[in-house]
Amino acid sequence: MEIIIQSDAEAATAVATRVIARLLREKPNAVLGLATGSTPLLLYRALIEMKLDWRIVTTFNLDEYVGLPKEHKQSYHSFMWENLFRHVNISKKNVHIPDGMSKDIEKCCAQYENKIRASGGIDLQVLGIGTDGHIGFNEPTSSLTSRTRIKTLTRQTHLDNARFFGSADKVPHHVITMGLGTFMEARQCLLLAFGAKKANAIAATVEGPLAAINPASILQMHPNAKLCIDEAAAGKLKHAEYYRWVYKNKPEWQVF
Ligand code: PGA
Repeated sequence: MEIIIQSDAEAATAVATRVIARLLREKPNAVLGLATGSTPLLLYRALIEMKLDWRIVTTFNLDEYVGLPKEHKQSYHSFMWENLFRHVNISKKNVHIPDGMSKDIEKCCAQYENKIRASGGIDLQVLGIGTDGHIGFNEPTSSLTSRTRIKTLTRQTHLDNARFFGSADKVPHHVITMGLGTFMEARQCLLLAFGAKKANAIAATVEGPLAAINPASILQMHPNAKLCIDEAAAGKLKHAEYYRWVYKNKPEWQVF
């Protein structure tokens, strides 16, 4: 795991933007796993400004609320089209987001996994992190080998996402989310986290034990996971000095 600590969210996003831009230039038909929430907004804005070529890029989104139609303002379909897809030249047929209105959720989840496999697998998975340590919507106690499936949100996630719905009680209870095992097959994971409210989750992810109670800790097992975080999110890391030193002293050929 590579822990890249930057002064603020803008600087941490700039690192992540470079990694993705380089991938899209080197592999124009890259398969990206994408995230929603407040965290990747700066990243999507930066990628839009770069005017990259998305014509043959394929995307798979992490998750979607069960029971929200695509057109709902808070659906992740709406989020992605509003904040990224409508601003770039991506082909609609290459965009994949779980269908929260599916009549057969198990089948829909199995098909999602099949589509990821058929696309050649995810080259780079963008992740945020919940204050409870979830990645995607893999809430604490998620199986570390889980695949795309239905999950029930924690009370903490309801409270965290209340700002989008007006109140915690209006946040849907169920979601479809890619699993932790799904992320483990991505060739690269790129997790972004900003602000002091993420500091406990980041400390547990990086320096805590590998445990289903802290789902993001599975990234300790990933062969190519980068964390791009700001100083506030790094606030509870015991070995922050070491991580800063490592990043500052990377061999020339490893710098992106
Ligand atoms: P946020 O959510 O980016 O809105 O903080 C992150 C998450 O829940 O994964």
